[in-house]
Amino acid sequence: MSYGLLKGKKGIIFGALDQNSIAWKAAEQCHEEGAEFILTNAPVALRMGELNALAEKTGSEVVGADATSMEDLNKLFDIAIAKFGKIDFILHSIGMSVNVRKGKHYTDLNYDWLTKGWDISSVSFHRVMKCAWDKDAMNQGGSILALTYIAAQRTFPDYNDMADNKAYLESIARSFGYFWGKERGVRVNTISQSPTPTTAGNGVKGFSGFMGFADKMSPLGNATALDCANYIVAMFSDLTAKVTLQNLFHDGGYSNTGVSQEVIEAMDANNKED
Ligand SMILES: NC(=O)c1ccc[n+]([C@@H]2O[C@H](COP(=O)([O-])OP(=O)(O)OC[C@H]3O[C@@H](n4cnc5c(N)ncnc54)[C@H](O)[C@@H]3O)[C@@H](O)[C@H]2O)c1
Repeated sequence: MSYGLLKGKKGIIFGALDQNSIAWKAAEQCHEEGAEFILTNAPVALRMGELNALAEKTGSEVVGADATSMEDLNKLFDIAIAKFGKIDFILHSIGMSVNVRKGKHYTDLNYDWLTKGWDISSVSFHRVMKCAWDKDAMNQGGSILALTYIAAQRTFPDYNDMADNKAYLESIARSFGYFWGKERGVRVNTISQSPTPTTAGNGVKGFSGFMGFADKMSPLGNATALDCANYIVAMFSDLTAKVTLQNLFHDGGYSNTGVSQEVIEAMDANNKED
């Protein structure tokens, strides 16, 4: 069902890779609610070709941009401005750790890989906002969002250096968000999403156990990519006009649950077996 919540709104969506991507679902839901947008991803991701199907479905243009390249980002924003004039929303749904990908343990990080992952996963959010800022690309009342994970606040051993990347990302949202609010009337937030089976999610060691545990711990169960997409729509809509500088937990209640009955029972059953 469509409520037309984003009718007339224009934006840029970063990070749709395939049908499982949070950004893919977000694009579908934003389109459903009346938004127009440019889809963008790294040139290497575009070569997979899957994004064309989403572009066709949502009537969107695809523009390649490596989110660590100011040259690429400047071109992307020039194209967006030429097409739409000022825009109303930006979704940063980008994450990658070379150390996670290559199975390097946190106590033995490769710092070149760390730097690359940090640039892609965190600093790119600053770069995107700087481009939008310098080009005065956002309408008053606009909304900028990035995706994050609770490992920024709590220890999740296998999340590795992505935990540090997410802490930095959330801090950038608050730091830059202050100036966006004060000087341009634009809100900036991060959504802290449940574990979700995507390419990035599945790259984390022990991911399915991790997901199962989170699901058992959350009173409402894990939030899916589609649930997240709907929350993103709400955050891009005028219904959340005064929400800014927040890290918004979207996790079925996981973040505030100490322990659940299911987890107690599972531990009890384990102890009885021993
Ligand atoms: N999947 C989860 O469990 C989960 C949970 C919480 C937060 N998140 C976050 O959600 C966001 C989206 O991830 P996802 O789970 O949809 O996985 P995904 O793998 O579908 O998306 C990650 C995207 O980052 C893009 N990317 C990587 N390097 C890039 C670069 N240099 N320039 C531009 N784009 C680049 C990839 O091409 C891909 O589209 C990420 O920030 C991720 O950390 C994911």
